[in-house]
Amino acid sequence: MNYNIALLRGDGIGPEIVDSACEVLTKVGEIYGHTFNFTPYLIGGAALDACGIPLPEETVKGCKESDSVLLGAVGGPKWDTLPGNMRPEKALLGIRSALGLYTNIRPAKLFSAMADACLLRRDVAERGVNIVMIRELTGGIYFGERGRRDGKYGPEAYDTECYSEMEIERIAHVAFRTAMLRNKRVVSIDKANVLESSRLWRATVHRIAKQYPEVECTDMLVDNAAMQLIKDPAQFDVIVTTNMFGDILSDECSQITGSIGLLPSASLGDTTCGMYEPIHGSAPDIAGQNKANPIATVLSAAMMLRYSFGLEKEAVAIETAIENVLNDGWRTGDILGASDATPLSCTEMTAKILEYIK
Ligand code: IPM
Ligand code: MG
Repeated sequence: MNYNIALLRGDGIGPEIVDSACEVLTKVGEIYGHTFNFTPYLIGGAALDACGIPLPEETVKGCKESDSVLLGAVGGPKWDTLPGNMRPEKALLGIRSALGLYTNIRPAKLFSAMADACLLRRDVAERGVNIVMIRELTGGIYFGERGRRDGKYGPEAYDTECYSEMEIERIAHVAFRTAMLRNKRVVSIDKANVLESSRLWRATVHRIAKQYPEVECTDMLVDNAAMQLIKDPAQFDVIVTTNMFGDILSDECSQITGSIGLLPSASLGDTTCGMYEPIHGSAPDIAGQNKANPIATVLSAAMMLRYSFGLEKEAVAIETAIENVLNDGWRTGDILGASDATPLSCTEMTAKILEYIK
């Protein structure tokens, strides 16, 4: 088969890690008889520099016409002082919304080889971490009304958390369907003791839960969830939560699974065209130094094969290669742990993964 993939390399380490994932996809294509065509488009700071806006119309069009999208990361200090609607991050929200990608799947699994990089006590880590976080991606405070105004004490700013029943229903269905294929447990995370939007969230999730009687559905307040993830991550199977809480808790998950450089994500809507990106950012401190860990992006490419193209065995081939690379002790700088071994560069890690793909 022939697949057209739009590449949004973006900023910072984005180009390095996307190129790495493309090499891996090309190799998988050679072995399994697929052709992946890559077309790059500008986004974020790179687009601002080239054409003065963070999300050019051509980029949106290109992504819509492609079979799927692979994104690196956006943002960096150079563009940090721009007004909110011109920031590189605005482009990321814009493309998620333009493509209707309301579901963000963020698996967080502790590879056995990563036990030393995991910050949890060994007996806690040994119970295992294998969580799929379902983060709502096109609603909530990220997209609610915001602005500046004159308030009681002078200038003030506001952002609004707003969820419609429809938005909660569709993400709840994704969570329950995901749980049906796993251990049939969903924890819905909210702040229903304070927020009205969370009270609607909770009631709606439970209404949808009735359609999935085999799935156990419980609620957890977000502050408690932040604590429980550290205390006993093994208790979680599928988590469903809002855009904002999912953003924060998925970074927390990265520290109980070793490194944020390892965690992939898939953003999906109602079509097979999805966007795949590591959960980490553009890491400007190490950009252009060939130090980035490409694994999160390569695993995101594996998710693309699985979710957008239905290429399960090809996805598993990538995931197995990475697991074996890690089992054999190969490390980039972020996952060295206490070891004083010389870390692999981004290109060296990519070459290792290519070598291990069967
Ligand atoms: C993420 C990132 C983005 C988000 C930023 C860069 C806008 O942190 O994908 O987790 O908050 O969604
Ligand atoms: Mg984030």
